[in-house]
Amino acid sequence: MPTIRVSQVSEIEDGGKIVIEADGEQIGIFRIGDDFYAWKNRCPHQGGPICQGRIFNKVIEVLDADLKSRGRDYDEESTHIVCPWHGLEFDIRTGQFAGASDVKIMALDGYPTQVQDGDVYVII
Ligand code: FES
Repeated sequence: MPTIRVSQVSEIEDGGKIVIEADGEQIGIFRIGDDFYAWKNRCPHQGGPICQGRIFNKVIEVLDADLKSRGRDYDEESTHIVCPWHGLEFDIRTGQFAGASDVKIMALDGYPTQVQDGDVYVII
């Protein structure tokens, strides 16, 4: 399998991404901490440019004992990307749809990544 050099590690900021073209595809490479994830820039819903969506941590509604909302918090362990076409959210680490489990949406389609000698690679 071909290995494509993407960039130096330092060129992708933590919580950021870059989009490259390789293998006839646009591919988004996302960084969360020291980990990198590569997903095709094609939403499994209707093909929207998922890699150009907003990135943020999963929103948690904080409820009191009476189940009244006390505002929002964010889950640092779950980072989502939101498709700019219809707003579906996907977990950047897994590619899985982050909405209700009874809604059947396929996961993002991606590639393995590798870091070697300070450079990020995608294995196509
Ligand atoms: S195409 Fe991405 S949510 Fe519809």
